[in-house]
Amino acid sequence: MAGRGNFSNRLGFILAAAGSAVGLGNIWKFPFEVEAGGGAAFVLIYLIFCFLLCFPVMVTEIAIGRKTNKNAVGAFNALGYNKWNIIGKMGILAGIVILSFYNVVAGWALGYFFEMAQGNFSVGKEFGSYVANVSTTGVYAVIFMAFTAYVVSRGVSAGIEKGAKILMPTLIIMILGLLGYSLTLPNAMTGVKYYLIPEFSELNLKTIGGALRQSFFSLSLGMGTIITYGSYLSKKENIISSTVSVTFFDVGIAFLAGLMLFPLVAYSTGGDMSDVQGGAGLIFAALPSVFESLGTGLGSLLGAFFFLLLSFAALTSTVSLLEVPVSYVVDEHKISRPKATAITAAIIFIAGLPSLVGNGYSEMFTSFVTYVGAEGPVGFMDFLGHLADCMLLLGGFLIVTFAGYVWKKENLNEEIAIGYEGYENSRVKVFIGFAVRYLCPALLGLLFIMVVLSNFFGVDIIN
Ligand code: TRP
Repeated sequence: MAGRGNFSNRLGFILAAAGSAVGLGNIWKFPFEVEAGGGAAFVLIYLIFCFLLCFPVMVTEIAIGRKTNKNAVGAFNALGYNKWNIIGKMGILAGIVILSFYNVVAGWALGYFFEMAQGNFSVGKEFGSYVANVSTTGVYAVIFMAFTAYVVSRGVSAGIEKGAKILMPTLIIMILGLLGYSLTLPNAMTGVKYYLIPEFSELNLKTIGGALRQSFFSLSLGMGTIITYGSYLSKKENIISSTVSVTFFDVGIAFLAGLMLFPLVAYSTGGDMSDVQGGAGLIFAALPSVFESLGTGLGSLLGAFFFLLLSFAALTSTVSLLEVPVSYVVDEHKISRPKATAITAAIIFIAGLPSLVGNGYSEMFTSFVTYVGAEGPVGFMDFLGHLADCMLLLGGFLIVTFAGYVWKKENLNEEIAIGYEGYENSRVKVFIGFAVRYLCPALLGLLFIMVVLSNFFGVDIIN
């Protein structure tokens, strides 16, 4: 279709899809999910989910997109199943929800880049007041959304693909550089062990649910991002091997991010890992003092470097999140891409205001809701995060169910076979057929219910 745009080659698609996948989820969230979930034991479960459950979902999303050359909603219409376009509509909503708060966190990363560059390490200790100061964080959020909109408005090959081709290799070099450095620090091995020694006792149904949520979020699945990117992929390319590349890329970077982070932490605590702060706070609250302990010059250099890296990783993800609604508006409402981008970005920015003020500035959004059975309230941002997790799992469940029972696996296989000569008689084909009909619907359906119950209703099925 003329005017829609395409990725120029396989590498362009892989880097863009990997750019979508690799983001705050990998560098900010993954390391601590691993640590909290029992180290290597969690990594193992995570890998199993990525390759067993996420892999078929990603293949299906790419196939639906490439077959139809359409956005997340239009794709289902083009296949002749208009009712099922509800999957795409829910995906667009999920994209808006995720980007609205993700952009705020991305703005913090950008803000921290400038703070580190100026040698202001105290922001870490004042993290709470930093994020409550919306006149600063608001400006960074505007800047970040503007960057995102700029890339998306330039279109698929000149914007998204080109951005990924510059940012992704830079990101890898930065991570490897910082990793190499952090491994040479005193106590580095203490950090590595803390990160990776398996503790099977910490593995329970809750961490397993966490691994699944994390894998879906990290691979950008379940909301039509990959349908949309797949719609710009050429028929020459092999969907299966592209999926393998994107998955390895994402898993690899997440793993390396943890390997880089924990030695830094171990260095700053002198090898005492007993009261390391977990979760979201680690990067923004604890890392600045790690950089400070390296000395003002080196510390601000590496600190600025790190938060620039985090901003780059976030940018290729925000681009993919914005692309989903933009592609819908461009395809279905025949509005020019620049205009569609500007309108959509503005709406999502406004939708992000409660998340912006919900970190200490506005009491109402900071203590937004208390779930059934929970000890205390969660903020608006966390609430949206939990909501999005559920939407992604539901989306993933519906996508495979659609492919397995409505569109039918024969049609799915026919699309996958284009660009993959030996597919017809391969074992992958047998696996995909089994996965979209039985494995994924059953497990994703079950885990979706489990995650909803434990997210919102405090039901811990096993503890
Ligand atoms: N995967 C990204 C991360 O790990 C976030 C992201 C981008 C995303 N696009 C998405 C998550 C689509 C879910 C769906 O940070």
